[in-house]
Amino acid sequence: MSARLVVLVSGAGTNLQALLDACADEAYGAAVVAVGADRPGIEGLARAQRAGIPTFVLRVADYPLRADWDRALADACDGFSPDLVVSAGFMKLVGPGFLARFGGRFVNTHPALLPAFAGMHGVRDALEYGVKITGCTVFMVDSGTDTGPVVAQAAVPVRDDDDIPTLHERVKVTERALLVETVGRMVREGWSVHGRKVKVGH
Ligand code: GAR
Repeated sequence: MSARLVVLVSGAGTNLQALLDACADEAYGAAVVAVGADRPGIEGLARAQRAGIPTFVLRVADYPLRADWDRALADACDGFSPDLVVSAGFMKLVGPGFLARFGGRFVNTHPALLPAFAGMHGVRDALEYGVKITGCTVFMVDSGTDTGPVVAQAAVPVRDDDDIPTLHERVKVTERALLVETVGRMVREGWSVHGRKVKVGH
């Protein structure tokens, strides 16, 4: 039976699309059962709708307290009984309530080699720092900003003529492949977290 994925997005949703494409093959071992967003009108939601997958939108501004939004997000995810929640370009930090329910089965993808260049501008910050190698990281979400245990990483060289869009596009090619491979291995082989160490498979 396929593992159930809920994917959270805020933008273009190309990582979501890579997961959707992978899930088309039954051997991949997972199905995207819902896509959630923190804003309406984004391509990520349109991709889900085209694929016939249920969507939900929960805007922080529509809730009196951040904790209320957090609970609503957790309830919405819970309604689809996910085995794994995947943050794929979801530009919101979740709170303790969400983590209490999904900690240990909530992964995020980041466009830099953590712990370098955490936060909203991983690609820009790597470029400005002048690193020659950057990359992407799939990690378990914890209460910090991009501080959770690392599940997988891949390196991407920075070119002399890169700007933010060219570097981000090249990182995203590697990132999509890493996310698909990592999520697939997790759902097919299982995973465990011991302190900062994540083990996928046996
Ligand atoms: C991805 O590169 C992801 O790592 C990044 O947003 C992009 C989403 O692309 N996330 C962050 O920077 C989170 N801090 P997509 O919408 O095309 O999948």
